[in-house]
Amino acid sequence: MSDKATLEIDGKKYEFPLVVGTEKEVAVDISSLRSTTDSVITLDPGYKNTGSCQSAITFLDGEKGVLRYRGYSIEELAEKADFLEVAFLLIFGELPTKEQLDKFHADIKSHSVVDEDIRKIVDAFPKSAHPMGVIASLTSALTAFNPSSVNVNSEEDMYKAIVKILGKFPVLVAWTFRKKHGLPLDYGDKNLGYVENILKMMFKQPNEDYVLNPVVINALGKLLILHADHEQNCSTSTVRIAGSSHVGLFASLSTGISALWGPLHGGANQAVLEMLEAINNDGGDTAKYMAKAKDKDDPFRLMGFGHRVYKNFDPRAKIIKKAADEVLSNLGVEDPILEIAKGLEKEALKDSYFVDRKLYPNVDFYSGIIYRAMGIPTDMFTVMFALGRLPGWISQWREMRLNKEPIGRPRQIYIGETLRPFKSIDKR
Ligand code: ACO
Repeated sequence: MSDKATLEIDGKKYEFPLVVGTEKEVAVDISSLRSTTDSVITLDPGYKNTGSCQSAITFLDGEKGVLRYRGYSIEELAEKADFLEVAFLLIFGELPTKEQLDKFHADIKSHSVVDEDIRKIVDAFPKSAHPMGVIASLTSALTAFNPSSVNVNSEEDMYKAIVKILGKFPVLVAWTFRKKHGLPLDYGDKNLGYVENILKMMFKQPNEDYVLNPVVINALGKLLILHADHEQNCSTSTVRIAGSSHVGLFASLSTGISALWGPLHGGANQAVLEMLEAINNDGGDTAKYMAKAKDKDDPFRLMGFGHRVYKNFDPRAKIIKKAADEVLSNLGVEDPILEIAKGLEKEALKDSYFVDRKLYPNVDFYSGIIYRAMGIPTDMFTVMFALGRLPGWISQWREMRLNKEPIGRPRQIYIGETLRPFKSIDKR
């Protein structure tokens, strides 16, 4: 293949270098387009064809349904690794040795105490607040309590910010959950693993011991790993672009949390469960909802189906589907919602509307069913996603800083009014 692409504008030819990734993906490097032409730019709403960076973190091939973190397949990581190992891998590039992992975990634990004044902020939120709004605000508030974490030119400071947020974020998640349910706010248990500690912090009742269930620990660990990174998606791009202004890690992360909240992104796990419940309450008629999803005059979409990048089975959905079966049978939960989900999946996979558009179940189609079996309320699902995505956002933010990427600043094609004279108010 040639190493250049040629573009002809108004009879004049311009050459641009091709950039080839390690998995043979090809991009046309148009960074000199505007300066070498007469201010011509590219236009790509939704960035469907735009690479915003070169990244060595996550590879995905949406056509083949492949997902790898730092070269390791998601299937192997979900089966063999634990969440903190995956977090280390994503952030620092290699699987940790036992010593590295122990130090990483010890550093996280030593920074897991949250300033008592943050309790006052938690208390100020109404119980009706959506947990994603609360958690985005609390993450942002951490900036005010940890001003030194904003030195983005110091690797040491970046490391400190990383272990701090990995330590404090689960506490904020647990506090958000407990406040909503009228439970006392508490700290974790330093003797527990990262995932075990999350469960205990969330679910421990004040008047009884918390008994950890290995099936639940395993399922939550798997879910967090599957959500840990997904290259330049909406929330991750938001984190990278916010961080490119040299704002600190916590402030960058809070923008990512807000972006994740939307139902077309991380909020889909909540939307899926609400949809399944609505179908169940409406008598379980999946065909009716399939018809609604296909009707162009109806805004209803089959939540948990389709993906901007996967035009094949989302590999994470396959793993989660199996995990959902295991968790439900181990916990002895019989959930009609799971049957509705299976029915919808079966119908959609043979329906030409979905087949032609390559709409397959995505990661969120089954995750809510597991969260529900674990006793996590629906409006906390996207927060659980954020808990898993945290190492991904951190690794992308760190990579962006280490690569010294320029400030993100897209351009536009202006289509508004041209110059016109001001009209005084009595003439409008
Ligand atoms: N139900 C019904 N039709 C759908 C669905 C769906 N879930 N998803 C896409 N389509 C249709 C669109 O109407 C469109 O049809 P058309 O070509 O006849 O106009 C076609 O499929 C392409 O859809 P787009 O919206 O253009 O695809 P895009 O790549 O922009 O969107 C998205 C991807 C946002 C995920 C979309 O599939 C969707 O809304 N899915 C439901 C929400 C969801 O599950 N989001 C979670 C994504 S995973 C994640 O973020 C972690």
